[in-house]
Amino acid sequence: MKKIVPWLFLAPISLTLYSGAVWAQQKTDLGKREFEANCASCHGVSGKGGGVLLEFLKRSPPDLTQLAKNNKGVFPIARLYDVIEGGNVPVHGARDMPVWGREYRIKDAEYYGEVNYDSTALVRARILTLLEYINRLQVP
Ligand code: HEC
Repeated sequence: MKKIVPWLFLAPISLTLYSGAVWAQQKTDLGKREFEANCASCHGVSGKGGGVLLEFLKRSPPDLTQLAKNNKGVFPIARLYDVIEGGNVPVHGARDMPVWGREYRIKDAEYYGEVNYDSTALVRARILTLLEYINRLQVP
């Protein structure tokens, strides 16, 4: 009995270490994670369209892999930033795409509550992370 007991204690610890090691090997792709969580429902996992919410939209979401190609090979970061942030869109403007600047500000406020944080910087970081990911989806 004396010999078995220490191993019983070690088993969960080594399991935890092992799963930690496996987790550390998988690199977290923040942009991809954000895109799959918030955008793929309309734009599809590939960004080409065909997300599950498509039938509820008045307008089809554009193919996000063609943005650079349609702009003489240049990924139009500043314009896309404004489209995603959405602050310049009129309040009653026809728009199927959510206004992400506002969505993120609400989510962050729910998450951080009374904690002092920089809301503007957080929204900017999220949108830039998404743009970096969408830039990687571009067809040549
Ligand atoms: C509810 C569906 C929906 C979701 C969710 C959604 N989009 Fe959109 N998106 C659209 C539609 C529809 C358009 C076309 C413009 C319009 O009707 O608003 C669009 C347009 C865009 C455009 C503009 C492309 C251009 O050339 O002007 C970008 C960039 C974009 N979406 C990125 C995103 C990102 C990033 C997310 C996630 C944070 C996202 N979208 C989530 C539906 C959606």
